[in-house]
Amino acid sequence: MRELQDEAIVVTGCGGFIGSTLSAALLAAGRCVIGIDLPLGADDRLRRWRLASLAAFPSFSLLHADICAPELPGRLADAGMHISAVVHLAAFTGVRQSALEPQRCLNTNVLGTLNVLEACRQLGIPKLVFASSSSIYGECAALPWNEEECTEHQLSAYAASKKAGEDLCHVYNHMYGISATIFRFFTVYGPAGRPDMLPFRLVQRTIEGRPIYIYGDGRQRRDFTYVDDVVRGVQGGLVLPGFEIINLGAHHPIEVGQAVRMVEKLTGVRANVVHKEPNPADPPCTWADVSKAQRVLGWSARTDFEQGMANLVEWYMANRAWASELT
Ligand code: UGA
Repeated sequence: MRELQDEAIVVTGCGGFIGSTLSAALLAAGRCVIGIDLPLGADDRLRRWRLASLAAFPSFSLLHADICAPELPGRLADAGMHISAVVHLAAFTGVRQSALEPQRCLNTNVLGTLNVLEACRQLGIPKLVFASSSSIYGECAALPWNEEECTEHQLSAYAASKKAGEDLCHVYNHMYGISATIFRFFTVYGPAGRPDMLPFRLVQRTIEGRPIYIYGDGRQRRDFTYVDDVVRGVQGGLVLPGFEIINLGAHHPIEVGQAVRMVEKLTGVRANVVHKEPNPADPPCTWADVSKAQRVLGWSARTDFEQGMANLVEWYMANRAWASELT
């Protein structure tokens, strides 16, 4: 039995890509983690794999709960631990998918975030870290994107929902003094990453000889950021007071076409690229100004794209028997 005075960090979306990588890093550093995630379905192979690696740590406990459920604060209180911070990563994550399921996106990302903030208020949790997104810069033309730039014109329901989440964090900081650190992530990738995102899809479909659909001419650029770098930034943010918005990006945009060539080089297989119409939800370029992360956290990305993609390819090959079936 754990003692009540033990301090725990809550990670929502602990079975997700960033959530599981962060939880593993916190646990390895000796922290107690209460992970929140939805119950597993029969097809949740990847989430099951990620959670299995966390279950090996005795200081990890898993709460199967929906962040939108009103009973969330009570469920957390029942865990009987002092909670020092919540890292809120659970989300509807698809930029382009949000056009197909806008209600679900807004419900999870806005009402879910409100519910998590309410849990912080009701349980006296002093600190929240919120996963925001580079997509909130939308049409902003002043590259690289600085946190001070205007973020009034998002291009997708997903981006608008993240903007609303940021605003709610500000309200709860202002009204109730909850410290809120908002990280704007830039297209995070790495081992056990999201199968709907370009890096995983490229690796899987190239190796398996399946077509990879590229939106537009492939000249759009993304500031792809390696997951371990992001996790290091989030860990640093856990002790920041007040309200801060901080970009976490590699500061090195890569063209989608360049990413294709990188995967071909790493796998020795030619990709079967099929071009599709550009997607109006996609900004043409994302590029993080990371001077604030450097100043406030001493943070900059350390993993270059080739190394990060090589790690993803290595993970894929080790797990290919089931990872090849992920959609
Ligand atoms: C990603 C995540 O999906 C968001 O959850 C996150 O908030 C966002 O990064 C961010 O960090 O700001 P996105 O940049 O669209 O969104 O990442 P990918 O899905 O990997 O797409 C990257 C680029 O590749 C886009 O231009 C997209 O159109 C293109 N792409 C992606 C394709 O051409 N084909 C695909 O099959 C997938």
